[in-house]
Amino acid sequence: MAHINTPVPGAREFYPLNEPAIGTHQGGEHPDLFKPLEIKGLTFKNRIFVGFATRGVGAICMEATSVVPEGRISPEDAGLWKDSQIAPLKRIVEFSHAQGTKIGIQLAHAGRKASTYAPWRTKAAGPIMFTPRPPHLTQRSAPPQKEMTEQDMKYIEDAFVAATKRCKEIGFDFIEVHGAHGYLIHEFVSPISNTRTDQYGGPLLENRLERIREEWKDKPLFVRISATDWAEGPEKSEDGAWLQWGIEQSTLWVGKMLSLGVIDLLDVSSGGNWFKEKVGAVGRGNVGHGYLVPFSEAIKKAHPSLIVGAVGMISDPVITESYLKDGKADVVFLARELMRNPHWALAAAKTLGAKVKAANQYHRAW
Ligand SMILES: Cc1cc2nc3c(=O)[nH]c(=O)nc-3n(C[C@H](O)[C@H](O)[C@H](O)COP(=O)(O)O)c2cc1C
Repeated sequence: MAHINTPVPGAREFYPLNEPAIGTHQGGEHPDLFKPLEIKGLTFKNRIFVGFATRGVGAICMEATSVVPEGRISPEDAGLWKDSQIAPLKRIVEFSHAQGTKIGIQLAHAGRKASTYAPWRTKAAGPIMFTPRPPHLTQRSAPPQKEMTEQDMKYIEDAFVAATKRCKEIGFDFIEVHGAHGYLIHEFVSPISNTRTDQYGGPLLENRLERIREEWKDKPLFVRISATDWAEGPEKSEDGAWLQWGIEQSTLWVGKMLSLGVIDLLDVSSGGNWFKEKVGAVGRGNVGHGYLVPFSEAIKKAHPSLIVGAVGMISDPVITESYLKDGKADVVFLARELMRNPHWALAAAKTLGAKVKAANQYHRAW
């Protein structure tokens, strides 16, 4: 192990250089999960996303980061609205790069779910919440709502653009726009939360992503959506009126984003927009392993050229590999399983008969 003390060149602290990068396929079977993925000239070493830099995931995505202070879900959330926030984020990005792991950031505004205290507290934290239109439909305690004016929309749009510029300076590899979970963008596209009758009464938001794309031309732009509101009843009435957000509108919306060139990867999540949601209930089976995969599969079928990510209670390596093999998704996003088992990528490789690079300092465990 003569290489073990070779430092990562140019890193601000000592980190052992891992060659190849942790989580890179090195032999044995070659599961799809460990096939590199190229997006806009950037190579992700495998297709297991969201986890820890030293544990072999293909990419880390920093969690919802608000573009304005009052757009955070709670004061505990991350933010990127001023230059002093650049340096600490840069340090995280440099650490991840020193471990050979790509890292992106999820830019967000929590809309009518913003400015609350953390879930274990009860009072509203902020002075105001933006919403397409009152009334507030969630159950959480919240500050007074304000229906957004055109000026408010410009303010938020400008904030997304400013945050994008800062992401460039920080050196993130990709940006993910948070268009899911009942936050501002989802609120605007869903008929259950957007009852406006003006020009903002429909899903016009794909055009707004063009301004982010202008600033983020050369690097991957991901969008996370909720593919359904999980409200009871159909997505569309018999006379064709949209009643709630669902897979039909999601597919159309994604098609528009694709035609505008504002999306390189779609991350398919669900829910969060309707306080009476019944997750997994609307005739799609119960909530269990990969319960959202039918949504990523449907969108992949409709838009085969798009790189699509599957989300939701993914944990079993063999089943997960089958999602990719069967063309239901191109990458997987794991949250809770990677929290429980940060080494999931390496363990999955072992289960699938593949040899994958472990961190130098952890080699003896593998
Ligand atoms: C602690 C925690 C933090 C999360 N933060 C975010 C977030 O910032 N943005 C987001 O879109 N989803 C977030 N999620 C949701 C996950 O990304 C994921 O969609 C959801 O947990 C379902 O996947 P899982 O079954 O693999 O956990 C979070 C989930 C957990 C458990």
